[in-house]
Amino acid sequence: MFLALLPLLACAFKNALASPTHWNSTAALSARAPSSSKKVIIQMFEWSWNSIASECTSFIGPAGYGFVQVSPPQEHIQGSQWWTDYQPVSYILTSKRGNQAQFQNMINVCHAAGVQVITDTLFNHMAGADSGVGTAGSSFTHYNYPGIYQTQDFHHCGLEPGDAIVDYNNRVEVQTCELVHLADLATDTEYVRGVLAGYGNKLLSLGVDGFRLDAAKHMPASDIANILARLTRRPYITQEVSSSDTEAVQPPEYVGNGDVQDFRYTHALRDAFLGGGISGLQNLDNRGWVPGSQANIFVANHDTERNSDSLNFNSPSNTYILATIFSLAHPYGTPTVLSSYSFSSSDQGPPNGGTGTCSSAGGANGWLCQHRLVSVSGMVGFRNQVGTAGMTNWVAPQAQRIAFGRGSAGFVAINNADSAWTATFTTSLPNNNYCDVITGRSNGGRCTGFGITISGGRFTATVPARSAIAIHTGQLGTGASPSGTVAVSWSETATTTLGENIFIVGSIPELGNWDPASALPLSAASYPVWTITVNIPSNTAFQYKFIRKETDGSVMWESDPNRSATTNLSGSQSISSSWT
Ligand SMILES: *[C@@H]1O[C@H](CO)[C@@H](O)[C@H](O)[C@H]1NC(C)=O
Ligand SMILES: *[C@@H]1O[C@H](CO)[C@@H](O)[C@H](O)[C@H]1NC(C)=O
Ligand SMILES: *[C@@H]1O[C@H](CO)[C@@H](O)[C@H](O)[C@H]1NC(C)=O
Repeated sequence: MFLALLPLLACAFKNALASPTHWNSTAALSARAPSSSKKVIIQMFEWSWNSIASECTSFIGPAGYGFVQVSPPQEHIQGSQWWTDYQPVSYILTSKRGNQAQFQNMINVCHAAGVQVITDTLFNHMAGADSGVGTAGSSFTHYNYPGIYQTQDFHHCGLEPGDAIVDYNNRVEVQTCELVHLADLATDTEYVRGVLAGYGNKLLSLGVDGFRLDAAKHMPASDIANILARLTRRPYITQEVSSSDTEAVQPPEYVGNGDVQDFRYTHALRDAFLGGGISGLQNLDNRGWVPGSQANIFVANHDTERNSDSLNFNSPSNTYILATIFSLAHPYGTPTVLSSYSFSSSDQGPPNGGTGTCSSAGGANGWLCQHRLVSVSGMVGFRNQVGTAGMTNWVAPQAQRIAFGRGSAGFVAINNADSAWTATFTTSLPNNNYCDVITGRSNGGRCTGFGITISGGRFTATVPARSAIAIHTGQLGTGASPSGTVAVSWSETATTTLGENIFIVGSIPELGNWDPASALPLSAASYPVWTITVNIPSNTAFQYKFIRKETDGSVMWESDPNRSATTNLSGSQSISSSWT
């Protein structure tokens, strides 16, 4: 029962002690969106403090990201599952990700690298477990957290059996009953407000720059405003308000407190890229969502990547990457990029003991490191370069093809169709030689990826199927122009029994869209090395597995995780692996 309701955890969360100094509301409004020229947030989901510190120095700062959003730092219930982090036990800063000294060190190191720190912050509730001991050794029962909260500090709504939220059309129920049995803090009381503001001020005293308020929908906006007014300084605020159009509590109610995560954006991108068409995404400020200047947007977060509320890393045909490129190119909202890990069950906690690890342009040891993909970090540079420039030169010749500029600083073309798109694009960029930041960077006047030359305000290029090109005035150079496909050759070492054959199946049409009936057979001519060469669109990220097919037609899959690869720009590439 509790497990079945877990996706709802995506919607809720926390905080603790304070000395009220009121911030000035004019200053508060100006602090609404991340300031400075570095606008993009990375959600470093489940990364330990020490590994985030290291990543701030080695990649995040140099790549131009403005913020890391880190998992909740406070004591939480024990357990390996990721959602234990969202069940607070006290305001001691000892969690699975490290202790207070390590948390403080991460903040200092990230700041030194020019990166600000946003904490996932739980004001709404405490634990859902009936009793236990937290990660710092504190004992608790459902409504008794010794020295912090007792029964009278929680809502006991009395509206439903077990005080559970059932009716999302009832505002009082959504805000005073319990989300998946999580003890619901009485944020309307003076005492609880004081404790939560105290926790907020403790985080601010350590140098935290922003709070993501989990489960904000489950607290009246005025309760949040009261708590924020007690903070000693004004952090960046973003609030999780995951409402559908018909629910009683709506995202725009929260804009007075700071930014709002309006999940209708996330759903709209999923639906557009999975088939609805992306040509309708030009104007997003006229949809009744929160205004772009007050929206914090994402293609996926830790909840939605698990519950099909969004695209995720396993989405077909490179759609997750293309939607991420779109979100970083389009002017609507302040973007958050999720950096997460591969999982085979939705409860699964982080790999590698919680120590985040990446390869140079992707993940390692089970981590995905989406923030390191050449295309994603390239678009962070794009967004920093174009700043607040408006959208220009929009074209959408087909439902799944769009291109647009950002003032005279950047231009992007996104091809979410299954065939290459060759076109002549009109831009507002100065005539020059530009590097495509989806495939590479400028290095000594040469592009490590594709090059694009603008003359007479125009350029002609082929955008590969299910791919994109993006250029901006901060990345100049010459390089080969985009075209075509890459021949990918696999050599898979596998011993088989008589009648058993090895096939490959994966997330893109060329690899059968995960349908075993459309899997491609490998050749056994060099047994026990099985081989196949497949032409795959250039610059495309995909997942795949090998499968064994028996003579009776039955199929055996390789174990998790999925294998992943990204095609080069052109030519051919080889991948060797084994299945023992
Ligand atoms: C409030 O903040 C704004 C912007 O920083 C400043 O111009 C103004 O003087 C402040 N007002 C008060 C009353 O401190
Ligand atoms: C592998 O990909 C499939 C199809 O997208 C997905 O359902 C599955 O969850 C993936 N497995 C892992 C471990 O990511
Ligand atoms: C092509 O991709 C492979 C990985 O499959 C990589 O090792 C190789 O360096 C790439 N080649 C070029 C020219 O980028």
